[in-house]
Amino acid sequence: MRVADRALVRLLPAVPRAVVQRLSAPYIAGATLDDARRTVAVLNAEGKLATVDVLGEEVRQASEAEAVARAYHSALAAIAADHLDANVSVKLTALGLELDLDLCRSLLATVVADAAARGIFVRIDMEHSACTDTLRLYRELLDAGRGNVGIVLQSCLRRTIADVDDLADLRPNVRLCKGIYVEPSSIAYQGHDAIRANFVQALGALLEHGCYVGVATHDEWLLERSLEQVSGLGRDEYEFQMLLGVRPGRATELVATGHRLRVYVPYGDRWYEYSLRRLQENPALAGMLAKAAVLRIVPGRGKT
Ligand code: FDA
Repeated sequence: MRVADRALVRLLPAVPRAVVQRLSAPYIAGATLDDARRTVAVLNAEGKLATVDVLGEEVRQASEAEAVARAYHSALAAIAADHLDANVSVKLTALGLELDLDLCRSLLATVVADAAARGIFVRIDMEHSACTDTLRLYRELLDAGRGNVGIVLQSCLRRTIADVDDLADLRPNVRLCKGIYVEPSSIAYQGHDAIRANFVQALGALLEHGCYVGVATHDEWLLERSLEQVSGLGRDEYEFQMLLGVRPGRATELVATGHRLRVYVPYGDRWYEYSLRRLQENPALAGMLAKAAVLRIVPGRGKT
């Protein structure tokens, strides 16, 4: 990221919430489960799979974590009722990871059990590096015999190759991504090239261990390398993953060329933190903010 871009990203929290909401609308299915259902149905009709995320990180009380878990149970019921080709992605902070580990463990266990009963897979998203209990809770679920759960590894982290090796005997189902959280250089690669190189190395190691990998990137260079790495594998041995609202045309191309492609579909009324992360990655951020500023100065313009 260029210095100018970093400065813009630091400004983002100062941008009014209404502006953030408008700019980030393409990344979010909507406020309600019905919005998510409709979005997934459209994606499925295009031959794309989905993973549904209930927005709601940084919960402050047990009741909020319980509400997120209830929302997941409703999402699972909807996926089953509508026969959607979708699984769910769960952030453990939304289930109370930073509040009460036992509460998080028990809410996660019930969500995973409910999903298992319906034949639905659960992906545990990976958050910032202080969430170290994520891998522990994942291992506990595998030890308890849950086969419908997978994890995320981030190629920006220096530990990722070691994690791949540690987990290898479990043949984990892994989503591999670059990682969005800002981490210190003591634990994370800071440069573009190093993060890409670690991605390629981690993907190679995961495939070598026979793991099912969700290759989660919109980076064309990495997509090309990954396509080379998965060539020769069966269609059911890997998938590509992208975020709602990001490079949908490229996603369509991947589907057209015979690859499984899953879209991450977040919904809910706690959209703010997720939206900031997506905006900070949008290369068009400067232009979007400039346009938003003009529209604010000249009220009424651009409201179509
Ligand atoms: P990069 O950011 O370099 O983007 C490549 C290109 O994609 C850009 O040049 C641009 O064209 C386009 N692009 C990317 N983001 C855009 C945006 N917001 N708006 C418009 N265009 C954009 N991270 C994490 O830490 N834990 C997790 O659990 C997950 N989960 C996850 C699931 C899925 C399905 C995906 C695709 C990604 C994640 N991530 C994640 C996020 C991931 O770590 C990473 O931050 C983003 O995918 C962006 O990295 P890229 O590899 O796409 O490259």
